[in-house]
Amino acid sequence: MIKGVRGAPDILPDESGKWQALESVARDVLDRYGYAEIRTPIFERTELFVRGIGEATDIVEKEMYTFDDRGGESLTLRPEATASMIRAYAEHNLGAKSSLVKLYLIGPMFRHERPQSGRFRQFHQVDVEAIGLPGPAVDVEVVALLHHLLEAWGLRGMRLHLNSIGDPACRPRYREAFLEYLGAHREALCGDCHIRMTKNPLRVLDCKQPGCRAVASEAPALSGYLCDACRAHFSEVCASLDALRIAYEVDERLVRGLDYYTRTTFEFLNPALGAQNAVAGGGRYDGLVEELGGRPTPSIGFAVGEERILTSLAVQAGPVETPPITGVYVATAGAVELRPAMELTQILRRRGLRAALDLEGRSLKGQLRQANKDRFRYSVILGTEELARGRVTLKDMIGGAQQEVPLAEVADRLAALPEREIV
Ligand code: HAM
Repeated sequence: MIKGVRGAPDILPDESGKWQALESVARDVLDRYGYAEIRTPIFERTELFVRGIGEATDIVEKEMYTFDDRGGESLTLRPEATASMIRAYAEHNLGAKSSLVKLYLIGPMFRHERPQSGRFRQFHQVDVEAIGLPGPAVDVEVVALLHHLLEAWGLRGMRLHLNSIGDPACRPRYREAFLEYLGAHREALCGDCHIRMTKNPLRVLDCKQPGCRAVASEAPALSGYLCDACRAHFSEVCASLDALRIAYEVDERLVRGLDYYTRTTFEFLNPALGAQNAVAGGGRYDGLVEELGGRPTPSIGFAVGEERILTSLAVQAGPVETPPITGVYVATAGAVELRPAMELTQILRRRGLRAALDLEGRSLKGQLRQANKDRFRYSVILGTEELARGRVTLKDMIGGAQQEVPLAEVADRLAALPEREIV
């Protein structure tokens, strides 16, 4: 038997309800904040991600699913959505009508990472982007939206980490000072960090090796190097979050794994998860649109990992709720043909009810057992003798009471039952 690919799990029928619920809550909340959905292809030209995410990032260096198509063009399965959304924004000139364009995308992403608990090679994100404005008010609204989303999903105990990583005016100064510091502690750093020092030194702050962590914890802080404009932006973001009573922790070590960020960066962490405890992350990326060939367009956004939300909910959940008892099972007794039962079942479904019938030729007893197992609230039994009189039996599967009713009226009666009876 051919098995699925490691790190790319199936979402099975008894799990898909949770995914649907998660995504429908997301759509509802995003709609309230004025975001419109965009769906971009799951593959793009490789160059888009190399330029967008940055050549010296782990994603571009090690994790992309890149292939040449039959025409010899290098394509990549999207490892994230921001670059694709910005490409579409610029390509279709979506900014022409409005100075702030609010987009969201829900779908699978692909990264060739080492699979482990909470880390997959195909995973799903809800990605949100506010494209067009530079001011801290947008940062605050975007973080407040993410906070609202997590709350609407029912998550508790999430911790917001916040940082400013400066901009092209001030980050080079920090980079220089940081490199000087790293140079003095070179022998304590791992081999990977030696390479990071030449390619992308800030990533050293994110290394999990104990030696590197020790060096990083003593490193000069980025906050000391922010230019006045970045400092003012960050303090405005912090003050507005305080005003909205959204708790956060300033985390100087929060550098994100993608190169496009400027100024505000943030992550929501769930301390109840293991090593992969970031449920969502994002930040401002004022240079990306231009980098990808568009007009200068300051923007900010985030992505939520759907698997990590569902795991977080499972970790905090109490006993599993049993599904409600709903709908109607249409059963046949004796030699009654299937056709009238099929017809009635279709009518009931069109009337908005959950309905089923037996397609396996079970006995009446077997059919009623199945109706109970599948949690049907009522059954309608079609018997030869009653049908000849144009009547059927309506049975309450909870109390067991039953009554004869005209076949022509049964759909009306069932549809008219109070909702709590039927649902
Ligand atoms: P990211 O931090 O790479 O950011 O991913 C965002 C979230 O996706 C993570 O916090 C995590 O929950 C989930 N995630 C990432 N990789 C995996 C994986 N291998 N398995 C399971 N879940 C994963 C971005 O992708 C940026 N595009 C976010 C953004 C949008 N920044 C600005 N706009």
